[in-house]
Amino acid sequence: MADVVSKTALDCGIVIEDDWPGYNIDLFSSPTHYSGDLECVYIPHGVIMDRTERLARNIMDDLGDHDLVVLCVLKGGYQFSADLVEGIKTLSRNSNRSIPMRVHFIRLKSYLNDQSTEDLQIIGAEDLSFLNGKNVLIVEAIVDTGNTLKMLLKHVEGFRPKMIKVAGLLVKRVPHSVACLPDYVGFEIPNRFVVGYALDYNEYFRDLDHICVLSETGKMKYKI
Ligand code: IMP
Repeated sequence: MADVVSKTALDCGIVIEDDWPGYNIDLFSSPTHYSGDLECVYIPHGVIMDRTERLARNIMDDLGDHDLVVLCVLKGGYQFSADLVEGIKTLSRNSNRSIPMRVHFIRLKSYLNDQSTEDLQIIGAEDLSFLNGKNVLIVEAIVDTGNTLKMLLKHVEGFRPKMIKVAGLLVKRVPHSVACLPDYVGFEIPNRFVVGYALDYNEYFRDLDHICVLSETGKMKYKI
């Protein structure tokens, strides 16, 4: 895990500044069932895919020839994980270095509406003893305060893997983040609640390709 103090510009990924207004939602295609629910397209799907392709290359450069257990953090991480694994597979096919991969899933839940709760649950796959002695790549869609990642790392470390690396698509700039960052970061984003590309708001918006900001109407409509 990279230390916050020693992070370099590239470690942060693509930095999206606080004043980034996003793109007008009507400039892109999105499902009509969400019309009025989104304020803007924050990161278009094509940009996510291009960035993911590069992260796959970085992982390949660092870890090529190692056996890897990819640990996908559900539910939000399924799309990023699938595209990242696909990217690594493509590179493996087209070069003389290759990474044999196994893929496992772990489900975590800590959010209600757009607020983090203290109550973090690991659902299923509590026994990760198969990770003993393995090289593990945790794939997480978004790191906010970092509490989820910190707790997951502690849990995974307990099973004594040989190495743990973390790939996070999004890292939020938040005032009280815990001092741990993914080793591979897609984008650093402002402290805004985003949905799409498998990220949800009370289980809605996973079926949206772009990463978008919710409108107030959307927040009210799907509030629990
Ligand atoms: P943390 O423990 O504060 O880092 O929160 C990380 C978890 O909160 C992620 O795994 C997501 O499930 C959820 N989360 C945090 N921010 C967002 C967001 O903007 N959209 C959707 N889910 C989020």
